[in-house]
Formats: sequence, structure tokens, C-alpha cells
Amino acid sequence: MATVLKLLSSVSLAIASKPKKLIHHTNSFSNLRTVSSNAMRMPKKTEAALAKEKRRTRSDRELDKDTIIELYNNNSHLHIPVMLPQVLDVFSNFELTSFVDCTLGAAGHSTNVIRGHPELKYFVGMDVDPVAHDSAQSRISSVLDDNASNLKVFTVLRNFRYIKSVLRETGEKHLGTESVDGILMDLGMSSMQVDDPQRGFSVLGDGPLDMRMDPQASLKAEDILNSWPDDDVGRILRDYGEESNWRTLQKKIIQARLQGGLHSTSDLLDLIRRVTPAMKGGRQGWIKTATRVFQALRIAVNDELKTLEDSLYSCYDCLAPGGRLAVISFHSLEDRIVKQTFLNIIKGNEDMEDSDMRKMIDEIKEKEAWIRQVLHGSNGIILTKRPITPSEEEETLNRRSRSAKLRVIQKI
Ligand SMILES: C[S@@+](CC[C@H](N)C(=O)[O-])C[C@H]1O[C@@H](n2cnc3c(N)ncnc32)[C@H](O)[C@@H]1O
Repeated sequence: MATVLKLLSSVSLAIASKPKKLIHHTNSFSNLRTVSSNAMRMPKKTEAALAKEKRRTRSDRELDKDTIIELYNNNSHLHIPVMLPQVLDVFSNFELTSFVDCTLGAAGHSTNVIRGHPELKYFVGMDVDPVAHDSAQSRISSVLDDNASNLKVFTVLRNFRYIKSVLRETGEKHLGTESVDGILMDLGMSSMQVDDPQRGFSVLGDGPLDMRMDPQASLKAEDILNSWPDDDVGRILRDYGEESNWRTLQKKIIQARLQGGLHSTSDLLDLIRRVTPAMKGGRQGWIKTATRVFQALRIAVNDELKTLEDSLYSCYDCLAPGGRLAVISFHSLEDRIVKQTFLNIIKGNEDMEDSDMRKMIDEIKEKEAWIRQVLHGSNGIILTKRPITPSEEEETLNRRSRSAKLRVIQKI
């Protein structure tokens, strides 16, 4: 039985032939342009639905019965991968010989990518959480063929901000290059993290004020609440939690230090409950405030926004020409960064014949029905002018998917 070993160990997988990659252009183009699909004719919608549709594209991809059984019945104790069919679509139409999952989690996306791409020769799964690695390794092993011979699998306990050095250490030796065909980032927390009260992520359970994705990291939520300067506490509640009542919360958190500080999630929840006006958001309004406060602390503890922005540039640098980076985000702060960074990436100054670019885009859209409107510049193509959101069916099956947004960029 093949096994997945940690960094620098490998396992094998049988190879089958697939059509060659579609895109091999290195040309460039100066202005960002929008190309709409003629094939996409929307049914009539109400004004409100149209306004919403302007900002996102709801996926109509249904989950097939076997996938539902596998994800929601057989493996329901593990994290359920969000927007799985949509992620598979992103990588389905070209030869994927190398793939990096920056957020391995329980390898729900990765096992399906590996299964769907027998031509894959090199796979890297990164995650800062050792618990994720334990689940992922056994799950990946289970989808590897006993006779497998050519897939190198690396699972690396490292922050995705170090993707370049991880590829230098692993890819150069095994691929002869540090560039890869596909990269996935599925941001946020896994269910394994949220459901364990000892990690301190959940507003529902009692546990320490930890919130570290990487248990080796030094900063915990407790440190921020009990020792950061007053203004910094207020700033993260305002900027990372988008919490309107941040001034009062800041004051109460600082005052709590005089009574020994806050040391458990229920200490913090009690404070929030006392501070939140009874009329705000109804009787359970304080839960919404708590969710925003927890989000703010988690972002600060894990330095999520700066890490995301820096890593998007690094990931793009690691793509081979024609390669794709897919990012699933779960709140507006993340999505804004993904959107803006993709726009920054595709910009450039050189000229490119519009007709060349048009031809390339038409070719892609002809083969891939999931692509609606694209934006292109001299350095790349954003394949999702508007983010794709889960199907109604998935939102019903998996509440966690409701805030998900998928954006994809392709290198040229
Ligand atoms: C939503 S889960 C991924 C789930 C996975 N796609 C699956 O299908 O099972 C996100 C994972 O990313 C990890 N993570 C978050 N930030 C990270 C970072 N900067 N570097 C590496 N891993 C990170 C978390 O520890 C978590 O396990």
C-alpha cells in the first residue's frame, strides 16, 4: 500500500495521457479589457437579483450523488471541501502535471484533484496545522494506486507564504523547474479547527483564547486581549472585524485587565454579551458581534491579510505559463485582497495584439463552459471577472459554504 510521507518523501501513481495544455502564450497587452460570453444568456431577473448578480456569478454546478454520499455521509467527520466541482472544473481542461494545495486541510480538494488527474507527477500539500496533515496523509494514501510509480507527493508543514522556498526544495529536484501548473488556496479554518474548543476559534464552545492555526506560533488571542496597546485592540476590532461598536468593546477589554484579564472564550463571550445593546440585531445580536470579534482576533493572530496578499504574488510567480491559481475566500476583507491583487498582477505596460489575446480567450471559453466574463492585461487573465459563488444546493447542504467566493487567475 502506497503511503504519503512528510516533506521530501514520495509515493507513486500511474500515469495516463491527457490532452496537452491549451495555453502557451507569453505575449502581453497594455490595457485591461473585459470579454463577455455571447453564449451566456441570462434569464430575466428581478432588479435586486440582477444587482447581486453584478457582483458575483452563482454556480449552477450540481454535486453528483456519489460525491454527496462521499462528502456528507462517509467522511462527514472531516472537513467538507467547499465548491469542489467548481474547483475541479478550473483544472479539468488541461494537462496538470504539477499541483500545489496551499491549504491542505483534510485534503478534500486534493484527493479529488489527484484522482481526476492521473497525469499528475508532482503534488505539494502545505498546511501550518499538524492535525490537518494527519487527516490529509491517510486520505491521500487511500486514493493512490498500489502500482503507482510516477507521482511525487510532498506534504509540508509550512506557511504558504513560503511557497517559493518549498518549491525550490522539492520541485527543482523532481520536476527540473520551480514552476507548477495549478495552485489552490482554500482560505480560513477547517472544521477540524473550528469544532475543537481547545483551539479557541468557535463562539459556541468554551476553550482557551488561542486561535493559532499554527500551534508553534507564539502569538495567541489572549496576548492581544491582555497586553496589546489599547489603540491596537480597537484598530483590529474596527478593521478586521468591521465592528461598529469597537470603541466600547476596546474600553471594556482594557478595563477587564484590571480584574486579571480575559483567559477563555467564555470570558470574552460574557464581556461581549454584557456590552452589546439588547436591541442590536435582536435578542441574539451579541452572537453576530462575537463572530466579528472572533474574526478580528483570528486575522490578527495569524496575520492573515498581509500573508494572503504577499502569498498571492508569490503563488503567481510560481505558476508556469498557462498555469492557474484558484482562491476561495470566506469574507469580504479576504475577497477584496484577492480581487485587487489579481488586478495588480495582470496589469502591464507592453503592447500585445488585441486579436491574439481575443483568440486565446475565445479558445479557452469555447472549451470551458464555467468561464463567463474574463479580464485580461499584459501579465495574465482573470478568468472570473465576478467571483463564482456556490450553488443553491451546496449552500443548503453545507452552511459554511454560504460566504465562499472563488476567483481564478491564469498566467500567460
Ligand atoms: C478551509 S481549510 C482547507 C480545507 C481543504 N481544502 C480540504 O478540502 O480539506 C484551510 C486550511 O488552511 C490552513 N491554513 C490557513 N492559513 C494558512 C497559511 N498561511 N499557510 C498554510 N496553511 C494555512 C489551515 O490550517 C486549514 O487547515
